[in-house]
Amino acid sequence: MNAAVIAGETAEAPIEITPLSAHTGAQIGGVDLTRPLSPGQIRAIRAALLEWRVLFFREQFLSHEQHVAFSAQFGELTVGHPVFGHVDGHPEIYSISKFRKATRFEGQALLRPWTGWHTDVTAAVNPPHASILRGVTIPPFGGDTQWTNLVVAYEKLSAPLRAFVDGLRGVHRFAPPQGASATQSFSKAVDTTTLASEHPLVRVHPDTGERALYVSPGFLKHIVGLAPRESQVLLELLWEHLVRPEFTVRFKWEPGSVAFWDNRTTAHLAPTDIFDLDFDRQLYRTTLVGDVPVGPDGGKSVALEGSPVGVAAATALN
Ligand code: SIN
Repeated sequence: MNAAVIAGETAEAPIEITPLSAHTGAQIGGVDLTRPLSPGQIRAIRAALLEWRVLFFREQFLSHEQHVAFSAQFGELTVGHPVFGHVDGHPEIYSISKFRKATRFEGQALLRPWTGWHTDVTAAVNPPHASILRGVTIPPFGGDTQWTNLVVAYEKLSAPLRAFVDGLRGVHRFAPPQGASATQSFSKAVDTTTLASEHPLVRVHPDTGERALYVSPGFLKHIVGLAPRESQVLLELLWEHLVRPEFTVRFKWEPGSVAFWDNRTTAHLAPTDIFDLDFDRQLYRTTLVGDVPVGPDGGKSVALEGSPVGVAAATALN
């Protein structure tokens, strides 16, 4: 496809959709996110999200309140982060600062091509269905974020391997790293909450029926029922596959950029090159309450440890 601008479906306020790669990511124009959207704009953005998996908006200088209001038009918000907390006075906002996790790279023995790739909070039984990240302080170069398309990754597996992974389930786990401390942006210190859930390896999208390879490298620890070596080798094969460049898009942030992704069909990679640069980087994220994943056989995910990721105000302001 050429760098086409496609009119979104709505007579009242057409949005412009510019695809950024063959499979993943589109830039959306013709919309002001600081103001309430029309029903047609919401429909068009929802449809574009289902098609392109991650949407990018430019020059949207949102306050925390406007970020929350924009997000709330697409679902119920979660607390900023179920383990790392939220920005003071803003229970729905999670601060993505450069040094947000003090011990982020300590004890990381081996870097692999998929290191750092993850789908948000898949250790919870109901991972957020979408995430909305806005850029505030952005380095002049470096600090790009990448996303990959888990539906295309599934479809590009061979048929026998698809049939095999269709029947598998995996354990996702997250425990705060030992000695980690929240940055001063957070209103509460990192607690000791461990989240763990068993999810199908292939997730059926509740809106489209598409199958996605649901193998968040950052959180998926082992495949249920396989021997440890079998599990590790199969996971490494799947992880190596899902970060193939042709499934991905790479986004260059500017102040005022917003990225809105479907967390059921994508994984993403936060940048690490920023640690080689002196520039600061500050973004803020909201997430929308998710459903419990369902596999091709109809089997649902189950919680092993921790609570579902719930509503912001109820959990965060007490
Ligand atoms: C995230 O993982 O949600 C943050 C991505 C980024 O820092 O670019």
